[in-house]
Amino acid sequence: MAGSSAWDPDQYQRFQRERSQPFYDLAALVEREPGMRVVDLGCGTGTLTNWLHEELGARETVGVDASPSMLDQAMPLASQSAPDRASAEGASADGRGTLRFERGDIAQFEPDEPFDLVFSNAALQWVEGHEPLLARLARAVAPGGQLAVQVPANDDHVSHRSARALAAGPAYRELLGGYERVFPVLTPVRYAELLHELGFARQQVRMQVYAHVLPETRAVIEWVKGSLLTPFRERLPAAAYERFLAEYERELLAAEGDRAPYLYAFKRILLWARRE
Ligand SMILES: C[S@@+](CC[C@H](N)C(=O)[O-])C[C@H]1O[C@@H](n2cnc3c(N)ncnc32)[C@H](O)[C@@H]1O
Repeated sequence: MAGSSAWDPDQYQRFQRERSQPFYDLAALVEREPGMRVVDLGCGTGTLTNWLHEELGARETVGVDASPSMLDQAMPLASQSAPDRASAEGASADGRGTLRFERGDIAQFEPDEPFDLVFSNAALQWVEGHEPLLARLARAVAPGGQLAVQVPANDDHVSHRSARALAAGPAYRELLGGYERVFPVLTPVRYAELLHELGFARQQVRMQVYAHVLPETRAVIEWVKGSLLTPFRERLPAAAYERFLAEYERELLAAEGDRAPYLYAFKRILLWARRE
């Protein structure tokens, strides 16, 4: 599981507004149906899962995440009523449907019962092998159900390239114990082909550039500390991680200039598909 113990909810939430927009854009692709059963894979702190649950008026929503620290934040949002107290229509005692969270690895996700909506925002980039992964997720979508996924596609941006190059260099390769960040995200075209091959009747796949205006170039470091750098922080001794950050900052400023404000142009792929 990629970085399951190292996720820092506070660091991740520092750019909450910017990080939330793709979630809302993905949710806007979902066709609303009454009483849906929904799973949110890689739900993080659960704030947005809670929003999705309310927005869809879902019968049941399950947030799944591998990180105990993220789930600690999510758990208080869970419905107070136990799922077995939900009525036949699925409304919980407070009429909101049931929202719950559980620890799980997306790489092993194979539910007993399919869902009306399999949703995942900014999480599948941590799971390798997207062709078999999508095939497995497709099996978790009920007849008439929907799949909605957003993944970053920013691997060629200097913010990502520099971190990867540093990690692969002599100063850190050994300290990282051979760990390499493999970026499994496919092209939009390949996702479209896959969705067709997997039997989805309708689909939308798009690449979108999110133009995040950050106060200065250095703010990118705070951004990636909450996501991309998580596995490096988890694996490097504290002093080595600090050195890594200092070198990363030098490379970033050399490549991008010390600008204020700084436009962090961030590419993301949004995909949605529906079964007959
Ligand atoms: C960038 S955060 C996104 C959180 C949330 N979906 C959002 O939109 O704010 C990625 C989340 O994926 C989770 N994650 C990463 N790899 C995972 C895996 N293999 N199984 C389950 N969760 C995973 C992390 O713990 C983290 O909470």
